Amino acid sequence: MFGIDKSESPVQIDDNGDNCQSRQSQTGRRDPTARACAGGGFSRNPETTTIQFRAMASELINNLDYSIQRKLAEGGMADVFLAEQIGINGFTKRVAIKVIKEELSEQQEFLDNFIGEAKLVADLVHTNIAQTYHLGESDGRYFIVMEYIRGVNLQELGDQLYHKQIRLPVELAVFITSRIARALAYAHTKRGAFDELLGIVHRDISFRNVMVSFEGDVKLMDFGIAKALGYLRNQEGRILAGKPDYMSPEQAQFKITDARSDIFSTGVVLSSLLLGYNIFWHEKPEKARRNVIRAKLPKFMKVDPRIDERLDTILRRCLSKDLHKRYQTAEELLHDLELYIYGEGYGPTNESLAEFINHAYGQFKSTPVIVSKGDTIPLSHATDWTSTLRKGA
Ligand SMILES: Nc1ncnc2c1ncn2[C@@H]1O[C@H](COP(=O)(O)OP(=O)(O)OP(=O)(O)O)[C@@H](O)[C@H]1O
Ligand SMILES: [Mg+2]
Repeated sequence: MFGIDKSESPVQIDDNGDNCQSRQSQTGRRDPTARACAGGGFSRNPETTTIQFRAMASELINNLDYSIQRKLAEGGMADVFLAEQIGINGFTKRVAIKVIKEELSEQQEFLDNFIGEAKLVADLVHTNIAQTYHLGESDGRYFIVMEYIRGVNLQELGDQLYHKQIRLPVELAVFITSRIARALAYAHTKRGAFDELLGIVHRDISFRNVMVSFEGDVKLMDFGIAKALGYLRNQEGRILAGKPDYMSPEQAQFKITDARSDIFSTGVVLSSLLLGYNIFWHEKPEKARRNVIRAKLPKFMKVDPRIDERLDTILRRCLSKDLHKRYQTAEELLHDLELYIYGEGYGPTNESLAEFINHAYGQFKSTPVIVSKGDTIPLSHATDWTSTLRKGA
């Protein structure tokens, strides 16, 4: 169904817009829409036409054509590729394709859960969630076609900020987190076709699973995957899902988790964005897990004087080990985060985040960016982002 260019070099797409016959011969691939392009000659009998359309539709679906361009990244469970979905007359759409690793594709229990979760989250359509377009299989390899995000994950951003000696302004850290909370508020309350609550919990919120596009969009990635991974165990029988230093205490203790677990992990993201390191990190996953379960929270205001009492309280309510003291819903968290950034009027926007990211990546604009209310980015007070890099994931 799709071909991976093993050399990982960009593949030229034939998009010369010629008719279907020429397109077919040049690409060497069958154009799934060839019949329609060639003028198909549909019957005038409405019944026959319906059948023909059905047959054509199923053929179309079964022949979705992707052309892999290059490898974007490699994660623990998949390789991620930039690809183009090819339509008629040179129509192409950039997508990302996540190809599940072979060793996972062979584990039936994982696959069953992976497919089950993919179906559950298929209808999540939200501006702060990377959308899934398609789940497929080719030669025993499973893959997810998803929205391509032209941007960086938070870990990459942190590394870049360290490299450039730029500090992420508090307001943008809160803004990014508020977008994650928005995504969660939507997903946690998502209902199915029969109005039943789907009970979706992400379970793997971390720096690497949040991307920020160069347009300033914040996207939460990989909904549903952690749960499927939760059924995988290593040789010692330990569950492999989740990153220990982002886990909630209940998750770290292998207890049953609910939406509040995601709120804890979101708190870890916020504190890491602000401080420049993950307070629970340890190079040994078991010790990171123990930190999450036992470690006392620092006085955030003392660690970073930019953090005021209100933000300190938000952090504490996210990171409370006591489930009853934690924010109970993502909406509550979203409310407090938005009140924090917008309570006094104008606050950060996608545009100001985009400006900051583009500045950090040297794409344009060289002077420190005005974020809001005269808050400029101090270039000299960089935090230790490389340790975040080491500490993350
Ligand atoms: N839709 C996408 N568009 C652009 N880049 C993506 C997309 N999905 C993933 N990526 C990039 O690919 C990287 C690898 O993704 P993947 O989910 O496989 O692993 P990970 O999140 O880094 O780690 P883990 O395997 O622990 O989840 C991501 O960190 C992200 O930078
Ligand atoms: Mg991921």
